[in-house]
Amino acid sequence: MMRIAVYITGGIAAYKAAIVVRGLEKMGHEVRVIMTKNAEKFVTRQTFATLTKYPVLDDLWLAQNEAKVPHVHLAKWTELALVIPASADFIAKMANGLATDAASTTILATASPKVIVPAMNDNMWNNPATKRNIALLMKDGVKIMEPAVGMLAEGYSAKGRMPEPEEVLSYLDKFLQRNQNLINKKIVITAGGTIEAIDPVRYIGNNSSGKMGIALAEAAAEAGACVSLIYGNISIELPEDKRIQKFHVTSSEDMLEKVQEEFKDADALIMAAAVADWRMKKVADHKLKKQENQNELHLSLVKTKDILKEIASKKKDNQVIVGFAAETNDLLKNANRKLKEKEADYIIANDVSKNVFGNDEDQVTILQKDSKNQNWPRMSKQQIAKKIVNLLSNDL
Ligand code: CTP
Repeated sequence: MMRIAVYITGGIAAYKAAIVVRGLEKMGHEVRVIMTKNAEKFVTRQTFATLTKYPVLDDLWLAQNEAKVPHVHLAKWTELALVIPASADFIAKMANGLATDAASTTILATASPKVIVPAMNDNMWNNPATKRNIALLMKDGVKIMEPAVGMLAEGYSAKGRMPEPEEVLSYLDKFLQRNQNLINKKIVITAGGTIEAIDPVRYIGNNSSGKMGIALAEAAAEAGACVSLIYGNISIELPEDKRIQKFHVTSSEDMLEKVQEEFKDADALIMAAAVADWRMKKVADHKLKKQENQNELHLSLVKTKDILKEIASKKKDNQVIVGFAAETNDLLKNANRKLKEKEADYIIANDVSKNVFGNDEDQVTILQKDSKNQNWPRMSKQQIAKKIVNLLSNDL
């Protein structure tokens, strides 16, 4: 079950939040409540403290909070943030990243998925500023449960009413089920490129940015998995999600060692890293110096171990292995060969001649043992990652 932070903001519908909190607890979730000072004009802190058997956070400046940084603690604890009711003011704060009180500060520090249930006067809901803010939140990946049409507190019927608590609970239940199909699963994901030293200052590397592997780690964590992200050389920021354990490695040898260790009790491995195929036969102890009149340099390289193949050949029956095939020509022919030779369950084939490295989008074809290829249209790496995670969840 999940750790849910329920944010209650100022609006008459705040009384309905008590029934939602109770319902979430009955469903087995662990709930903490954060309230704005305006919410406390409608419902009391005591109601929610009694329901959750835990103090309500509504002030960052209380003496008891001085040493604890309570908003960071609560933000880290959160697996799902629910704002109910979400007032126009709180929506505006969230959309613009304002942190002016305990609630807005805590939600700004929260990396987990967020669901908001707006409730307000119809004119406020239809105001272009609110519409803009809602559009911004949707773009940021916040899920919006649309207000219902019905009698408003003002005494007339219009869109703006908060849905009934039962509807909110069933919406959340569906949201959690749809998105949590990897709960209790451990997924090992590699990202970025390996670095093979030539001498103490030079190395053989590649163009991998780590974007695909990191998008996969985020998608798997969002689906409830416990992720081990083993990353080499990357050019983007690492995710902050606490469900993602991060391990930095340098060479292909380091990566193999870490993958072996992490895969032992894992359910799946996704090899999104660009692993070097060659390494120096012997890494020079000192910086290689140019000799007088030297015009060429020959490096003696030896093959690295194929991590994917090595792991796949020893995997248990219920463990799933996904590899990538980065090709510049004969995409499907080469990818098919990799599927067979590496004994992977899936190969995600992509044509890297087309500006893929570092790009936000990609076009991939999915190859699977004994199945027809799936040719996915061009889409963002985040969307591809979600679809791969979905595919994987069918097998786990
Ligand atoms: N891979 C691996 N270990 C290696 C090389 C590659 O685990 N030493 C993995 C990659 O992470 C990827 C898949 O194998 O999931 C295919 O990688 P790719 O670079 O496309 O192919 P290679 O096996 O390196 O073959 P080639 O360079 O000949 O295309």
